[in-house]
Amino acid sequence: MTEACTFIIFGATGNLARNKLLPAIYHLEEAGRIPEGSAIIGFSRQQWQGDEWRKPMDEILANKARGGVKPEILARLHQRMHMFTGDMSDPKSLKELAKELETNPAYPKNLIFYMAIPPSFYVPTSQAMAAAGLNQEDNGWRRVVIEKPFGHDVEGATRLNRSLHQHFNESQLFRIDHYLGKSMVQNVLVFRFANLMLEPLWNRNYIDHVQITHSEDLGIGGRAGYYDGVGALRDMLQSHLLQMLTLVAMEPPPNLDAESLRDEKVKVLKSLRPISRRAVNAHAFRAQYVQGEINGETVPGYLDEEGIQANSSTETYAAMKLYIDNWRWRGVPFYLRTGKRLASNSSLISIRFKHPPQQLFRKTNIEQIKPNWIILGIQPQECMRIEMQVKQPGLEMLAQTTQLDASYCSSSSLRLDAYEALLLDVIENDSSLFLRYDEVHYAWEAVDPIIKVWDSERDFIHTYPAGSWGPDGVQKLFDREDQSWRNSLNE
Ligand code: BG6
Repeated sequence: MTEACTFIIFGATGNLARNKLLPAIYHLEEAGRIPEGSAIIGFSRQQWQGDEWRKPMDEILANKARGGVKPEILARLHQRMHMFTGDMSDPKSLKELAKELETNPAYPKNLIFYMAIPPSFYVPTSQAMAAAGLNQEDNGWRRVVIEKPFGHDVEGATRLNRSLHQHFNESQLFRIDHYLGKSMVQNVLVFRFANLMLEPLWNRNYIDHVQITHSEDLGIGGRAGYYDGVGALRDMLQSHLLQMLTLVAMEPPPNLDAESLRDEKVKVLKSLRPISRRAVNAHAFRAQYVQGEINGETVPGYLDEEGIQANSSTETYAAMKLYIDNWRWRGVPFYLRTGKRLASNSSLISIRFKHPPQQLFRKTNIEQIKPNWIILGIQPQECMRIEMQVKQPGLEMLAQTTQLDASYCSSSSLRLDAYEALLLDVIENDSSLFLRYDEVHYAWEAVDPIIKVWDSERDFIHTYPAGSWGPDGVQKLFDREDQSWRNSLNE
């Protein structure tokens, strides 16, 4: 049975806690998955009088609960929730918290700390926790959840990791990449390793190239303070997109335990061909959105967003070509791209197969046979689709593309949110969907030359109109002219 715990959220009034953690906790409560007797503490600087925190919480849940809030679930959550006012990087505040946790019988002794706070607070907060003895496991276990970005580059990530390891063991640290909590991302593993028929095809002999795209039509919203200076490469590509790449490319692990799974992902990251500084321009492309139109409305360019420096050259679009130098993948390009204010919201993994070895139909009306594709739609539509060529009905020898939907292709609003799955994993001490430090490290190494070159060339950045599919110049990343971006499940 899962043990009861006290779940402490640092940054309880911040965006992440409000938009993701609170709704996830509500849905876990609804699903009866929060262990009996567990408690939740929202830790923030905000001073609350009595139960006045309940009102904003109820308002958030009124908007976010699937199918509307159920009063009995909300009442259960009210019982579990407590607020604690303090400064998370001040040892004094954390000593007060430690005392409260020790003396108040409402709080189970197993503790989860969720750092829903700006990354610059990770180190001071972990130090303050250690000063208050909150890292000691002599009475119950301690787990710490750390959000991305884990560091700003290889050196920063190494420093951060060293700092955390002064006070916590690796097994206590849960580095989150919420993409691994998405059901379709996990489905990549099932699709690959539960279907024998794919395995013989899943390699350099049959696959022409792989594309991983994450596009958003939103801009940076109210996140200028975080995003400017970070950019698309660090924000999305180094983490979420490289994680998806590892799942597509990894070898089957001996079993599904956390270490075996992560060992295989690390092997992929270690096999990525290093990009020399001189080759950065041939392997990566960045751009920034300018004013354009989205859903019929004019939206401002990045430089006109609130809080952005007038001369910022932060990229809102990043694309990259990678090669995995191992027996399975050598020579197969993996194209990754992500951007804000693009034409639509979607995440897709698109795998294009090679042409058959003989052009058997050349002398018929079929001028050119289109290649097979496997498309894994991560969001908004969860889908696995295989595109094949079949003969068109009729007297002529003509081919057409047919689509085999190998899984549910729906945009159901009843999908679980990634955070629900991941919070439950922390409660149950399953770290397979969390990042081990070596994964983070090799992922930073993969993008490091690009970061260094881009950081040193700040005078110019390509642009693209908001609402488009990004800058034209990015086409140059493709190895051949017959390769081009796939923007949706259908085209
Ligand atoms: C976050 C990035 O990690 O992922 C955001 O910081 C991005 O910039 C978000 O918008 C995308 O996540 P999702 O789940 O909405 O696809």
